[in-house]
Amino acid sequence: MSTETEATAAASGAGATARFRENKKFAASTSTERVGALAGRIIKAVNDTVLDEKVTYEEYNALKAWLIRVGEDGEWPLFLDVWVEHSVEEVANANRHGSKGTIEGPYYIPNAPSQDTPATLPMREDEPGTPLLFQGQVRSVAGEPLAGALIELWHADDLGFYSQFAPGLPEWNLRGCIIADDQGNFQINTMQPAPYQIPTDGACGALIAAAGWHAWRPAHLHLKVSAPGHQLITTQLYFEGDEHVADDIASAVKPELVLAPADRADGHGREVTYDFVLDPED
Ligand code: DHB
Ligand code: FE
Repeated sequence: MSTETEATAAASGAGATARFRENKKFAASTSTERVGALAGRIIKAVNDTVLDEKVTYEEYNALKAWLIRVGEDGEWPLFLDVWVEHSVEEVANANRHGSKGTIEGPYYIPNAPSQDTPATLPMREDEPGTPLLFQGQVRSVAGEPLAGALIELWHADDLGFYSQFAPGLPEWNLRGCIIADDQGNFQINTMQPAPYQIPTDGACGALIAAAGWHAWRPAHLHLKVSAPGHQLITTQLYFEGDEHVADDIASAVKPELVLAPADRADGHGREVTYDFVLDPED
């Protein structure tokens, strides 16, 4: 058995929780009124569900036990990013005119090694999978090429594992920051990621099994694309023909985000072109 197959929910959950604590800013500025309004609505929604569905003490206690376990397994980032983040993203990006965004997910790590285009993401010498050339241009909504654009790309490997959240992978495997040329063009060599199953052996997996759902996300590239004077977009790109494009557990697929790579003329894997359009800063 390879070390990668020993990845556990507890390991990736604890990693995602630790990373969240390190990287995210908390909204200490949220007003008393706003906290009261939001918390009140959430509590009311839960109470309405209990009353409408005539929830029993047995079910209530199962919920309590499960919520305790989500924390013990470190799976709050996973739970929220799968079942809630897509709505937060919809609100956040409602007024954009440029490229579509989607959820960040729990596995972003800032400050991956940077390279000028054309680039090859850090990977193992024998990195398994199909090579993928991902290329395109970053432009403004007015159609101007954006010099100094930065493409941060991170994704799972051919087995669906993310570096720094599964054992045995090099620190920056399949993670990089690529600096586009003075016309906003970029060319990045990577490996096609595999469909990703959210960890099934923790609290989220227990919920999925108990509810009769599936745990799959379609294979995806994660991206943060930015340029001076423009709004950063956080997004993901998917692959046509992947059965989970139509039923992503994280509800994060949008039609504009589905790629259709072609076989490369040199027979060396596949290639696809995708251009990004960035909104100006407010
Ligand atoms: C999860 C994992 C992902 O790779 C992602 O993009 C979104 C959510 C998760 O395990 O919660
Ligand atoms: Fe992901």
